[in-house]
Amino acid sequence: MYVCICNVLKDKDVERAIAAGARTVFDVYTFHGCEPQCGRCMPTMQEMLGAAVPVNDSCPLFDDDDLLAAE
Ligand code: FES
Repeated sequence: MYVCICNVLKDKDVERAIAAGARTVFDVYTFHGCEPQCGRCMPTMQEMLGAAVPVNDSCPLFDDDDLLAAE
């Protein structure tokens, strides 16, 4: 399935970027050496990123040390 028509990125391409460490939509573009054009793919990419990134990695306000200190 194509996720980004402008840059010809399929879901597998997005998944590959996430597996390589992409944590934002812009990381995905950078991984594939492209830039956003129309932006219509961003919600789908964000959804894929949200499903793939563990909760602690997606929250910049807390890290594991904060969680341990609160216990
Ligand atoms: S569909 Fe991805 S930038 Fe247009």
